[in-house]
Amino acid sequence: MRFSNKVAVITGAAQGIGEGVARRLAEEGARVALLDLDLQGAERVAATLPGDALALRCDVSQRDQVEDSLERVQQRFGRLDVLVCNAGLTRDNLIHKMTDDDWDRVIDTHLKGSFLCCRAAQRYMVDQRYGKIVLMSSRAALGNRGQSNYAAAKAGLQGMARVLAMELGPFNINVNAIAPGHIETEMTRATAARIGIDYQQLQEKTIQANAIKRVGQPEDIAAAAAFLAADEAGFITGQVLWVAGRPTV
Ligand SMILES: NC(=O)c1ccc[n+]([C@@H]2O[C@H](COP(=O)([O-])OP(=O)(O)OC[C@H]3O[C@@H](n4cnc5c(N)ncnc54)[C@H](O)[C@@H]3O)[C@@H](O)[C@H]2O)c1
Repeated sequence: MRFSNKVAVITGAAQGIGEGVARRLAEEGARVALLDLDLQGAERVAATLPGDALALRCDVSQRDQVEDSLERVQQRFGRLDVLVCNAGLTRDNLIHKMTDDDWDRVIDTHLKGSFLCCRAAQRYMVDQRYGKIVLMSSRAALGNRGQSNYAAAKAGLQGMARVLAMELGPFNINVNAIAPGHIETEMTRATAARIGIDYQQLQEKTIQANAIKRVGQPEDIAAAAAFLAADEAGFITGQVLWVAGRPTV
């Protein structure tokens, strides 16, 4: 029960990795707020969690929605200890086919969305002199064909984690990033569909390249996020934790 008396906000928590993180933190005692574009999905997850959970519709790329959501979390739970910036999407295309909209949607969701959430959350965390922020990067930060937008955003988040760690550390706020490899979620299912292979084939390709002979599950990332958000990781900040089933960098 590492998160008794703690309040956690997880973005993109209606499914996949965000759902897994919300579940893990709630199972360890946190009161959680699930922010997602998909309110019904967030409500569905919230209803299955132990303890007090709040589902809010929020587009993380919109400043007003982010600030309003965190204000509502503060009103409901009275504090904000953990922020996991996880909301995301892909709009893959080779550069000659990538549209402005493909670029903007991905950068606005991952990079600007995380910026807006961190800026809003740090106000509460600085006042408390306590906070844990986890940004969801990706192994794709190292480069993936068709993902110039996504790789740029995910590499950007690693830089942001380092800078925010420097700026917020004096206020007892830790900021780290997780870089998952292939995790079994709707996002990787959509990737298989885009490149025109079935999901099993994509998974087998990943498993061949992995040292650990399986693909990842949301629970693998939830365990890493819970570790970085827990007090036992209090001297770890500005780091990228690669959770990819193989050595990376
Ligand atoms: N699945 C993987 O293999 C993998 C690998 C590396 C990194 N990631 C990252 O992990 C995170 C979660 O991915 P996932 O696989 O669970 O994806 P997913 O598609 O299953 O879930 C993403 C969630 O984010 C929400 N969302 C999208 N845009 C949003 C916005 N503007 N505001 C609020 N919510 C929004 C969606 O509604 C959805 O519930 C993403 O940041 C993704 O880039 C995933």
